[in-house]
Amino acid sequence: MKDQHTAPIALAADHGGYALKEAIKTHLAERGVPFEDFGTDSDASCDYPDYAVPACEAVTAGRCAAAVLCCGTGVGMSLAANKVRGIRACCCSETFSAEYTRRHNDANALCLGGRVVGEGLALQIVDVFLSTPFEGGRHTRRVEKVMALENR
Ligand code: RB5
Repeated sequence: MKDQHTAPIALAADHGGYALKEAIKTHLAERGVPFEDFGTDSDASCDYPDYAVPACEAVTAGRCAAAVLCCGTGVGMSLAANKVRGIRACCCSETFSAEYTRRHNDANALCLGGRVVGEGLALQIVDVFLSTPFEGGRHTRRVEKVMALENR
C-alpha cells in the first residue's frame, strides 16, 4: 500500500453498500484519515462495477493509497476490483483475513458486504486493513507470481 499515511483512501459503494460507506466516511473523518468518495451517493439501485473501477484506478494511478469498496455482499465489488490491472482485492467478513491479506498478499483493496457484516465489525475490519503493513520476504515472490498472471 503506497503512501499509507498521506494519500487518501478511495471509497466506493453500490446501493447495497451505500450505508456502510457513509459509516466508514464518518469513522475515517473522526480518525483524521483522508478519503476520496467515488460514489454512489444514495441507496438508489446502481451497478457496482461502475463505482469499483474509478476507485481502483485511483489506487493503481498512485493517487489513493488503497480502496475500500462496499456492496451487498462484498463479492461483486471484489470480482470487479480484481479485473483492474494492479489491484489485489480481498472480500473480508472478519479481522483475521483483513490482517493477513495485508501481511501476506499486500492487498490494496478491501471489499465489505453491507448486508453481511454489522457496522461495528466492518469498522474494525477497515482499521485492521489500513494499519497492517505487508511483511515482504517470501510473500513478495508469491505476490509477484500473482501479478504476473495479468500477463498470461
Ligand atoms: C445488489 O443487489 C447486490 O447484488 C450487490 O450489492 C452485490 O452484493 C453484488 O455482489
